[in-house]
Amino acid sequence: MDITPLNPGFVGDATGIDLTRSLTEQQVAAIEAGMDRFAVLVFHGQPFDDETQMAFSRNFGPLEVSSGAEMAKPEDRRLKLEMADISNLDRDNRLRPPDDKTRLGSLGNRLWHSDASFRAVPAKYSLLSARIIPGSGGNTEFADMRAAYDTLDRATKAQIEDMITEHSTAYSREVIGFPKENYGAHNQDKLRPVRHRLVRTHPVTGRKSLYLSAHIGTIVGWPVPEARAFIRDLTEHATQPQFTHAHQWRVHDLVIWDNRTTLHRARRYKDLHEIRDLHRTTVRGDAQTAPQQEAA
Ligand code: OGA
Ligand code: MN
Repeated sequence: MDITPLNPGFVGDATGIDLTRSLTEQQVAAIEAGMDRFAVLVFHGQPFDDETQMAFSRNFGPLEVSSGAEMAKPEDRRLKLEMADISNLDRDNRLRPPDDKTRLGSLGNRLWHSDASFRAVPAKYSLLSARIIPGSGGNTEFADMRAAYDTLDRATKAQIEDMITEHSTAYSREVIGFPKENYGAHNQDKLRPVRHRLVRTHPVTGRKSLYLSAHIGTIVGWPVPEARAFIRDLTEHATQPQFTHAHQWRVHDLVIWDNRTTLHRARRYKDLHEIRDLHRTTVRGDAQTAPQQEAA
C-alpha cells in the first residue's frame, strides 16, 4: 500500500490494496498507522457490499449500531442495524419525497460534525462506501482538528484545556429547524445530552485536537447563548479553507476518517431528482472523554 498526501496534507490517497478481501495483521496495522499519520484515507476502486464492508470495518474494532437505524421504525429501515444509511432512498429504493422526515433529519449532515459525538462513548472511525453517486454536487468535506487546535492562540488554548461540552442530536436538528418531537416519544431518551472534553489527546500520536461538532448545545457552567457563540467562533476558525479538503466521490470509493480528530459535512446536490447512495459503518471508540452527569 502506498499513501500520497492530498491538499492540505491530512488526507491520504491510498493505493495498492484490495480492501474487499481479508487482510493480514500487517495490512491492518499499516492502515491504522496511515490513519494516525493522516486522519482521512481515500481508497478508490473498492467494490464493497454490506457484508464485505462490515467484515473489513471490524478489523478496527466493534461496530456501532447506526443511530438513524436505531431510531427508525423497523419497517422503514433499508439496511442492517450496523449500516448507517447515507442515501436519499426509502426501503423500496425509491427517492424520498420532499416532506419525508428521514430525508429532512439527514440534512443535519450538512453541518460540520463528528459522527456519534452524541454518544457517551463516541465513534473512532467512520468508513463510507460510495454505491451510487449523483452527476454533480454531493461532495463530502473534511476539516483537520489537530491543525485547528495548533493554530489557536495561547490564551484560548489555556481557556479551553479542561472545558466540557454537551452534545445531543436535538441541538444539531434544532439548528436546521427539525423539531425533536419528530423523533417520536420512544426516542426522546436518546436525545439526552452527553458530556465531552473540548480538547482531546490522540491515544497513539499524543497530538491534541479540538473536539467540535454541530451536536454541541452548550458548555458546562456557561450560559447557553454565550456557549453557542463561543463554539460558533471556534468552528469558524477550525473550518477555514487551509484546514479543509473536499472529497469528490467516485463509485466504489471507500473513505475512512477519524472522528476523534476531524469534522466533516455533506454538500448539496439535487437530492429530489438524483440518487445518492452511500453506506457507512462506524467503529466504536474505546472510552468516554469525560465523566457523565449523574442521572437526576
Ligand atoms: C456520514 C456523513 C456526509 C455525506 O456519512 O457520516 O456525514 O457527504 N456523510 O454524505
Ligand atoms: Mn457524518
